[in-house]
Amino acid sequence: MANVRLEEIKRRFNNVTAIEDITFEIPDGEFWVLVGPSGCGKSTILRTIAGLETATSGKLYIGDRLVNNIPARQRDVAMVFQNYALYPHMSVAENIGFGLQMRKVDRKIIQERVMNVARSLSLDHLLDRKPKQLSGGQQQRVALGRAIAREPQVFLLDEPLSNLDAQLRDDTRAELKQLHQELGITTIYVTHDQVEAMTLADKIVVLNRGRIQQIGDPQTIYASPNNQMVATFLGSPPMNILPAIYENNGFDVSGQLLTIPAVVKKLQLRHGHSYDLGIRPEHIFINEPPSGFTVAYGEKPSYSADSPSRQEGNESQLIVEVKVVEPLGRETLIRAGLPGSAVVLNIQVGADVRPRPGDRLSLQLDLNHLFVFDPKTGDRIL
Ligand SMILES: Nc1ncnc2c1ncn2[C@@H]1O[C@H](COP(=O)(O)OP(=O)(O)O)[C@@H](O)[C@H]1O
Ligand SMILES: [Mg+2]
Repeated sequence: MANVRLEEIKRRFNNVTAIEDITFEIPDGEFWVLVGPSGCGKSTILRTIAGLETATSGKLYIGDRLVNNIPARQRDVAMVFQNYALYPHMSVAENIGFGLQMRKVDRKIIQERVMNVARSLSLDHLLDRKPKQLSGGQQQRVALGRAIAREPQVFLLDEPLSNLDAQLRDDTRAELKQLHQELGITTIYVTHDQVEAMTLADKIVVLNRGRIQQIGDPQTIYASPNNQMVATFLGSPPMNILPAIYENNGFDVSGQLLTIPAVVKKLQLRHGHSYDLGIRPEHIFINEPPSGFTVAYGEKPSYSADSPSRQEGNESQLIVEVKVVEPLGRETLIRAGLPGSAVVLNIQVGADVRPRPGDRLSLQLDLNHLFVFDPKTGDRIL
């Protein structure tokens, strides 16, 4: 096992800078997730750590050893890709043991390790099968098993679950987490899926356009994003962004005036200037029952008037028009538009709240959870 340290790593392809100024240190045994939209440089970072790519500049250490000029096979890392390549003519057992066989490990030890790995991945009843006799999920587990059997110092996983269907992805994700808890091998996991990032990571590194946006544990990044990109990337449905103009006594949002909490007044925002307001779906409540609403289950609709996070004087109203209602079983997701504008809000409410398209709703925003962003830079002001 080993820590992994990147110092100002940069990678340029001809005149395209894929990644720049990438600096972080992963302590021994931790599980870090690199997350960001497609093309942001995740795979380039991972491939650079693996030694499949060479940094244009910067320093890379694995276990305090500078490895910039160490070839991939001497770095003692194991990488698993989205498109797992198993050897079709080999059995599951042979595939898992392949890396060990290449290194001429004793046959007995190979057998033992293959068995242990297969057991921990629930593959032990499939050891004699060929890859084409396995489901996609099983094949990917074999690919993981091959990497694990090598007992590397560092695991590098590049979107390893992306090819699996939803149920299998959830299951395998949980298995991966459990496996890491058992083995404690330093792991770097790349994904564009924010749910995977939130659920798996000790620390998340959010990337955009080749640069680090924020590093932190999932809860901190969710609750306290540095900028609008991070704020809207993590969370599903994403944080709502409302373009607003700061006026003397509040924010003008498409002609509706939001009163603002005292903390905003202290920010010394500039009058007549534009700002982007951010509020998460779970911090918006329906103020009063809409006309013609239906209570689908239970007696009392769960308008969030009783919500513990409500505080007198720290909320503000907004009138919206319901566009789409999505019952999700445990809750209902409402997409509603601000009259006279193209802005659409996502609102999460109780399962028993079922307004109809066209209904007008009066919303309460919990301003304890209001974010203010600079629309030019995306930086968070509040
Ligand atoms: N071999 C390459 N040649 C030229 N450009 C590349 C190469 N590999 C990656 N890039 C570019 O670098 C950027 C980051 O790519 P990548 O690391 O694959 O992103 P991600 O994995 O986050 O989707 C992209 O703009 C991509 O087009
Ligand atoms: Mg990639």
